[in-house]
Amino acid sequence: MKDLSRHINIRWLKPPIFLVCLAPLAHLVWMGFHDELGANPVEYITHSTGTWTLVGLCATLSITPLRRILKQNWLIRLRRMFGLFAFFYVSLHFATWVWLYSGFDVHAMIADVYKRPFITEGFTAFVLLIPLAATSTSGMIRRLGGRRWQMLHNLIYISAIAGVTHYYWLVKSDETVPLRFAAVVAVLLGYRAIRHALQRKQQAAAAKRSRESVYSA
Ligand code: HEM
Repeated sequence: MKDLSRHINIRWLKPPIFLVCLAPLAHLVWMGFHDELGANPVEYITHSTGTWTLVGLCATLSITPLRRILKQNWLIRLRRMFGLFAFFYVSLHFATWVWLYSGFDVHAMIADVYKRPFITEGFTAFVLLIPLAATSTSGMIRRLGGRRWQMLHNLIYISAIAGVTHYYWLVKSDETVPLRFAAVVAVLLGYRAIRHALQRKQQAAAAKRSRESVYSA
């Protein structure tokens, strides 16, 4: 497939994608104003914001494989927006817990993070995303340097694993949805692991060939 980077105007593409990413929040607000959040509105809001966080994380993680497989380099320019939306939804999710679940009671929150493993996992996933959101600007990439920035941004892998573990641990009966998310994350991370292993193998083979050519010269 031909790279369409030269034909796609990313400035035109970003606003509609931005609106699509805001749609779940708009839907939630609309439901709230129309009293349609069901018998347990807090549960509804938590479920919705948590699910959209995972969708955002999966979308962010799928950009690199899609870009390589489809050979569409312009896709990379959407990654930051998806990542920031994942962070936006997890911040709303976290705020729901701080406000509506815990009533701003700091002691209760600390106890919850210590006592309930699924909260520990969710909290870890959230905390790991904070430095990524804070360093998402072009200025921060320049200041940190590409290599260090990339190393820091690898934290998204641990965050995604912690996020799906959090979901899997909190469901009480039907595990189908968390397992589906876990499968998507496994495929997206597995792709990177396999590619990394193949690259290492190729580099080792190239190094061996160049050593052999030095000795035989
Ligand atoms: C990347 C981070 C996170 C992801 C992907 C995530 C995902 C989810 C999802 C999908 C649900 C919905 C479960 C359901 O109702 O079926 C959920 C519920 C929940 N999450 Fe998170 N979450 C994250 C971080 C957090 C954090 C930081 C906290 C609080 C410290 C938290 C606290 C909760 C609570 C209290 C519930 C409701 C549990 C219940 O229904 O009893 N989550 N989360």
